[in-house]
Amino acid sequence: RRADGSPVDLAGRHVVVSAGGTREPLDPVRFLGNRSSGKQGYALAAEAARRGARVTLVSANVDLPAPEGAEVVDVETGLQLQDAVHQAVADDADVVVMAAAVADFRPAAYATRKIKKEHGPDASEAPVVELVRNPDVLAGLVADRGDRDRPFLVGFAAETGDDQGDVLQHARAKLERKGCDLLVANEVGPGVTFGQDTSTVHLLRPDVADVRTVGPTGKDKVAAAVLDEVVSALGT
Ligand code: CTP
Ligand code: CA
Repeated sequence: RRADGSPVDLAGRHVVVSAGGTREPLDPVRFLGNRSSGKQGYALAAEAARRGARVTLVSANVDLPAPEGAEVVDVETGLQLQDAVHQAVADDADVVVMAAAVADFRPAAYATRKIKKEHGPDASEAPVVELVRNPDVLAGLVADRGDRDRPFLVGFAAETGDDQGDVLQHARAKLERKGCDLLVANEVGPGVTFGQDTSTVHLLRPDVADVRTVGPTGKDKVAAAVLDEVVSALGT
């Protein structure tokens, strides 16, 4: 324990955190993006470093100061994020926390010159942007790991309830689909948007029926609760 009583229970571990939101370029001046602020991922990286871990923070388009003790790798696109995460995993990762919002799709083609407003035969049409699927980084890590038990894989999910089920039902289904070891399900809904300072999350483990709910509270407290779950699942 440190002087303030907090644990150093990740000493000797390499923790990889992805944070922020990817940008998928369309032309030299435009991209498809999302509203992820990176706050939760940065809070996780800072807390893991405080607990003694070596931390690699793969950061996609985040406008925040680097957390103390973390090595930051900046990326822009989903493909770059996948590369950076794979490199960090190959460097003996014990834990990967996929807090980043990775675009599910990217423009099929990149225009090397700016797309001009005057478009089509009579210069008055609008272009149609074709999209292709991005790789699912987390699913790839699960597949690459195979039967091994490292790295421990944490997924995030922002869920709203809908006619198909409530937040927890969607989260349980996503955990099973993804095959990760811990899913952090964020409740999003009317009035709850990315970039806020507090959140409510549910922590789900495969083969554990109980769900731990944390919040509404600050992202630092959420980070601490997530890492408590990781430490308890890793054992000693
Ligand atoms: N994720 C990923 N690669 C992607 C998309 C998502 O690694 N191309 C990761 C996210 O970082 C997150 C988890 O998968 O940890 C769940 O992301 P989410 O968007 O909630 O799930 P999807 O499977 O993309 O399903 P959907 O967007 O349809 O809800
Ligand atoms: Ca998605």
